[in-house]
Amino acid sequence: MSNNKTACVTGTDRGIGLAITKSLLREGYTVYAGGIMEHNAEMDLLAEQFPNQLQAFVLDVGSDESVMNAASFIKSKTSKLDILINNAAILGDTEKTVKDELNFEEIQHVYNVTALGAIRVSNALIEPIMNGGKLIVNISSEAGSIGNNRREAWFGYCMAKAALNMGSTIIHNQIRKEGGRILILHPGWVKTYMSGTWNDAGTYTAEQAAANILKRMEEYKDTLREMLFILKQTPEKNCLGKTKDGGEDRMSDKTNVLLVGDHTDAPWHPLEPAKQELTRILGEDFLITSTEDYNSFTKLDRKQFSLCISYTDCWNRDLSPEQTSGIIQFVAGGGGLLVIHNGISVQRSYELIQMIGAKFTGHPPYQTLDYYGSVENHPLLEGVEDFSMEEEPYMFDFDPFTKKTVFLEYEFDGNRYPAAWEQAYGLGKVIYLQPGHHAPSFKPEAYRRLVLNSARWLSASTK
Ligand SMILES: NC(=O)c1ccc[n+]([C@@H]2O[C@H](COP(=O)([O-])OP(=O)(O)OC[C@H]3O[C@@H](n4cnc5c(N)ncnc54)[C@H](OP(=O)(O)O)[C@@H]3O)[C@@H](O)[C@H]2O)c1
Repeated sequence: MSNNKTACVTGTDRGIGLAITKSLLREGYTVYAGGIMEHNAEMDLLAEQFPNQLQAFVLDVGSDESVMNAASFIKSKTSKLDILINNAAILGDTEKTVKDELNFEEIQHVYNVTALGAIRVSNALIEPIMNGGKLIVNISSEAGSIGNNRREAWFGYCMAKAALNMGSTIIHNQIRKEGGRILILHPGWVKTYMSGTWNDAGTYTAEQAAANILKRMEEYKDTLREMLFILKQTPEKNCLGKTKDGGEDRMSDKTNVLLVGDHTDAPWHPLEPAKQELTRILGEDFLITSTEDYNSFTKLDRKQFSLCISYTDCWNRDLSPEQTSGIIQFVAGGGGLLVIHNGISVQRSYELIQMIGAKFTGHPPYQTLDYYGSVENHPLLEGVEDFSMEEEPYMFDFDPFTKKTVFLEYEFDGNRYPAAWEQAYGLGKVIYLQPGHHAPSFKPEAYRRLVLNSARWLSASTK
């Protein structure tokens, strides 16, 4: 069963580290699995299953002594390691902003484990690594990207992951002269206990994330001359990287989006200006195919498009039963539908009204409107400040059967009205965003962010 290959994985008590350990064992590796727990029933079970391959040991990557003991143990068993996977990390506080009383001791603890842990372990094991496969895989995070960070809290984790990326660079620069390399990977948004409680909203299971990581590792381990940098990614992406020598490695392709609207019969809302704005907003992550052919609804395939955006202007035209059932099947089967402003005109039947969640009833004249987030900490509002814009105050009657979350409201005549909501429909999800009358509606930075959040959220939670 053994393939004579050896790997060391840290943070193996649970989550991605445990899943990587299991996968490597199944592939025949001898795995040195370092977990912080003294007794772990899962490890005991694996030890029974893979008695000659699993070497489990207690490891606190935050402690010099523990890492030195672990390294002595590993070196007493083997002189070479094919891979070291630095996975152990802690998240720490994710709430406190610069306006709160920050706990610097806690931030330092997160930094010590999440950033220095990987450097400490790499340092202690550099000899067997360079005698072996010369490959270190550091599990980082999009949270470590400085350029793409929109968070207002998460000091410990974001700073630690950014530092981990830098520490990895420094190691890489040294070992690459002898054929060594570091691969930094973001595992995507994963269902684990990382935040302290079970996060079921993640895109991947730990097993899927582990499979993705091992796949990337296999793809890049021999060809990688330079380290991969994390650029930016959406939650649904595995990792996007850029090689130091300039070539871009988009390790996962852009997400395909079908944008449906009208060019020829668009009484109020022609597609082209909106399409141009949407391409600017979404273009880095999404590949937009636009069409005014509503028959594309009949053959909407989730394998081709995980997201459909409706910017239809069909106030006076019905959809055929085939078009209606096509878009309903797409969403009910697990697709994402983003309906922007006039895109609600697609609701030409009661089934479509129910799928979108509300019926458009009319609007007072175009005017300045103030928009307010109405749900605290809603992921769609991340980085979205309250904003104002000239817009049509669309009004709606809500379908009482579907459970929806109105996360944005606008003020009109002293009252607040729903401006955006999300709801599940079958296995899929729908978001409605009320702003979007014409190109200027897409200019406010907060609204651009909301559109981007919506597209990312839909494609992440519906694939
Ligand atoms: N989940 C996500 O969406 C996500 C996104 C981006 C990046 N990541 C990264 O993926 C990696 C794995 O995270 P996960 O989601 O699988 O979370 P997780 O389930 O919390 O796994 C982290 C593991 O690290 C262990 N650990 C904590 N402190 C340690 C220490 N001082 N020494 C050794 N092990 C320690 C934890 O042990 P205990 O459970 O016993 O505390 C746990 O087994 C981390 O590097 C994380 O930053 C995760």
